[in-house]
Amino acid sequence: MGLIRRSRNIVAARGAPHPAYPAIVIKIERITPQSPLFASAVALRESVLLNPIGYDHAKFVAEYPSVDERAEHFVAVMDHPTGPRVVGCLLLLTDEEPSEGGQTQAKVMQMAVDPQRQGAGLGRRLVVAAEARAFGELELSRLYCHSQDRAIGFYEAIGWHAEGEPFEEAGIGHMKMILDAPPQPSNDTASTLEGDPLYGDGV
Ligand SMILES: CC(C)(COP(=O)(O)OP(=O)(O)OC[C@H]1O[C@@H](n2cnc3c(N)ncnc32)[C@H](O)[C@@H]1OP(=O)(O)O)[C@@H](O)C(=O)NCCC(=O)NCCS
Repeated sequence: MGLIRRSRNIVAARGAPHPAYPAIVIKIERITPQSPLFASAVALRESVLLNPIGYDHAKFVAEYPSVDERAEHFVAVMDHPTGPRVVGCLLLLTDEEPSEGGQTQAKVMQMAVDPQRQGAGLGRRLVVAAEARAFGELELSRLYCHSQDRAIGFYEAIGWHAEGEPFEEAGIGHMKMILDAPPQPSNDTASTLEGDPLYGDGV
């Protein structure tokens, strides 16, 4: 009983949500700057990412003009009594120049998860949604980001790897992290997988 009182995430012994504490549903969605959720996403970016390094959204826009308009915005949205609330976000810049090696690529930016929800898999779900978009519909061959030093372990934990030398951006240490598209299944493999019920599960 004590355990159940401590957290809304705790489920009753047989696996069903406790009736007094329904499971929290957090969905990954794609929005535009015109969405009513955009202001909530910007507020999260400011509190988690920008303010701690002396930026606000206006300074970000001045330094990265039109990025918000060019990017695809992925958000993690939680139902809340006061209305839907953005608890995680990232930007996917899909119109980047090809890499030096000729890979078509997109850049992940402004990755942030509400401190109360960190460590619960939301960052992974957001990046996986961006990977599915980049390597699926957009058929790109590489994703990259400029990771703050404190987040390098996160990208490594989800399968990305470092490239090049450490560098400074906005006065703090960064590392370029990359992920290449998984190899395409050959036609033979694809036809074998067609009968597999797990094949084609979306994000
Ligand atoms: C970094 C951040 C986006 C990660 O999101 P999250 O929802 O907390 O991460 P997840 O719960 O999805 O973690 C996925 C994996 O990464 C690991 N991980 C998460 N953050 C980590 C960190 N800072 N260092 C090392 N590993 C980390 C988790 O342990 C987990 O590993 P596992 O699957 O082996 O258990 C989030 O902590 C955050 O917003 N931090 C502050 C802002 C920031 O640093 N943004 C990135 C700027 S480049």
